[in-house]
Amino acid sequence: KNAAVAIIPATILADSPCRLENLPDISDVKTLTYILEDMGAKVDYLDRHTVEIDPRPVETDTVSADIARRIRASYYFLGALLGRYHKAVVPMPGGCNFGIRPIDQHLKGFAALGCDYSLDNGMIAVSSPGDLHGSSIYLDVVTVGATMNIMLAAVKARGLTVIENAAREPHIVDLANFLNTMGARISGAGTDTVKIRGVNSLRGGTYAIIPDQIEAGTYLAAVTAVGGNVLVQNVIPKHLECITGKLQDMGAKVIPFDDSIRIIRSGRLRSSTAKTRPYPGFPTDMQAQVCVCMALANGTSRMTESVYETRFFGYCSELESMGARISIESKTATVVGVEQLHGATVSAHDLRAGAALVIAGLAARGTTRVQNIHFVERGYEDLIGKLTALGADIKRIEE
Ligand code: EPU
Repeated sequence: KNAAVAIIPATILADSPCRLENLPDISDVKTLTYILEDMGAKVDYLDRHTVEIDPRPVETDTVSADIARRIRASYYFLGALLGRYHKAVVPMPGGCNFGIRPIDQHLKGFAALGCDYSLDNGMIAVSSPGDLHGSSIYLDVVTVGATMNIMLAAVKARGLTVIENAAREPHIVDLANFLNTMGARISGAGTDTVKIRGVNSLRGGTYAIIPDQIEAGTYLAAVTAVGGNVLVQNVIPKHLECITGKLQDMGAKVIPFDDSIRIIRSGRLRSSTAKTRPYPGFPTDMQAQVCVCMALANGTSRMTESVYETRFFGYCSELESMGARISIESKTATVVGVEQLHGATVSAHDLRAGAALVIAGLAARGTTRVQNIHFVERGYEDLIGKLTALGADIKRIEE
C-alpha cells in the first residue's frame, strides 16, 4: 500500500504511459487512480492488480477531487505536480486520525527547492517562479511522507538535491527504483542520505510494486495471536525482520524462505517489550496487531509508541471490552496478558486498529462484530477471503 500510494501519483511525471503491476486491490489505490482520472489521465485496469496510466492528457496543476481530502497519500500529488508544472494545488490531506499529522517537513523541502507556499480554504498551494533547483535538506524528523514528496519534486529540478536524515522504509527504495526505471538519477534510497540529480524528462514503462510488509506482518501477527502453521507467500523476508524478530521473542517459530515465510505458533505466548521506530525499527503500523499478541501472552508486556502518540486510542479500549487488560501512561501501554479474550461488538477507528480488532476477534471465544470495516478495506485486499482460506469463520455484513 504505502509504495503504491506514492508511485501512482508519481506517474504524472512521465511523458509516456506507465504500467503498474502487483498493485493491491484496496480502496486507497482506487481513490488515487480516480483522482488521476479526474485530472484527465487515461486509466485502464488490465486486471485487478495491473493498471495502465497515460498521464499525457493531464493539463491541470490542481487536485480538485474532494475525495482527496479523505486520504493521506493525496499529498504526493504536491511533489509530483511540482515536478511536472512547478506548481501544485492540493487539498489538505486526511487519512487515519491519530492526532496532529503536520506536513511542515514537506513544505520545508519544497521551500529549499525554490518554492513558495500558502494555505487557503483548505487547499495547499505550492509554486516556484521558474525551474525548481537542487538543494540540501536536513529533515528535523524522520518522515516517510516528506522524504518521498521531496524526491518527487526534486527528480526534475536543476542540479543536485540531497535529503539528509531521510526515512529508510522499503517503500522509499521502491519509489526510487520506479523513478530510476523512468530515467531519474536517485541514489542512496534506503540509507539516511538520498541524492537526486535532476533530469529533463522521465519516460513511462512497466514496474512491479513490492509486496507490502505490513500486510504480510498482519497475517504473521494473526497466526501468532491465534495459533497455527501458515505459509505467507510473495513477501520479501528481509523487509519483515523488524516484525518477525518480535513475534519470535513472543514464542512464534519463523522460517524464512526466498520469497515466503512460514510461521508456526503453538503453546502460550511469552510477554515482551517493543518500541515503535522508523525502519528498520519496529513499525508503528504493527503496533496494534502486536498488542493483541501481548494481550494474550503470559505475563506483562510493554508497547511504547514513538511515532504517533495517540495511536493507542484507536483500539485499546475496544480490546479492553473483549477482556484485555491494558493501561496507558504517556507513550507506553502496559498489557497484562490474559488466557482468553471474549467476543464483543467493537469499532475500528483506523486501518491498523481495525486489523488488530479482527485478529482479536479470531482469537476470542464467541463472536466479535467489528464495525467501521471500511477503514480496514483501505489497506487490506480480500482480508475476509484470505482468513476464510485459513479456516476462520468471518463474514462481511452490510449494515
Ligand atoms: N511529521 C512531522 N512533519 C512532517 C511529516 C511528518 O512532524 O512534515 C511527523 C509525524 O507527525 C510523525 C512522524 O513525523 O510523528 C512520521 O511521519 P511520516 O511522514 O513518516 O508518516 P506519514 O507519511 O504521514 C506514512 C504512512 C503511514 C505510516 C507512517 C509511518 C502513507 C500514506 N502513510 O505516513 O501509514 O504509519 O508513514 O511509517 O504512506 C498506515 O499504513 O496505517 C499508515 C498510517
